[in-house]
Amino acid sequence: MDRVLRGALMALVEGDTVRILSIAVAPPFRRRGIGRALMQAAETLGWNRGARRVSLEVGVTNDSAIALYRRMGYRAGALLYAYYSWGEDAHQMTKVLANVGAPVPRP
Ligand SMILES: CC(C)(COP(=O)(O)OP(=O)(O)OC[C@H]1O[C@@H](n2cnc3c(N)ncnc32)[C@H](O)[C@@H]1OP(=O)(O)O)[C@@H](O)C(=O)NCCC(=O)NCCS
Repeated sequence: MDRVLRGALMALVEGDTVRILSIAVAPPFRRRGIGRALMQAAETLGWNRGARRVSLEVGVTNDSAIALYRRMGYRAGALLYAYYSWGEDAHQMTKVLANVGAPVPRP
């Protein structure tokens, strides 16, 4: 069976914070839940190592990534002017982690 890399995420656990450094899903595999799954894996990994918040930066024009993060409960904080080398501004976004990996209560 051919093995194809569909997506990747790079993160750093620094004290109580997981920093998402990079996330990408290969174009043919987008909108299939891979990005969300990668983010959830980073949250769980961070939680298991004692982190209680996640922090990331995203370009202000990156609508798909902003949509993913908002959908997952991330909130925009500081606006970072000319954050990227090409001059684009970035939103800093954060999420407080709570009960990551805990069983979902029954209704
Ligand atoms: C951002 C990225 C990682 C999302 O990966 P993905 O696997 O397509 O995302 P998912 O399928 O898990 O999407 C989960 C939810 O995020 C939102 N979302 C993701 N892509 C979206 C888009 N293009 N437009 C609107 N909403 C989007 C939706 O709410 C989606 O849920 P739904 O499909 O049920 O509506 C992907 O678009 C990518 O690799 N982009 C290029 C690299 C990049 O910009 N990385 C981020 C740098 S900060």
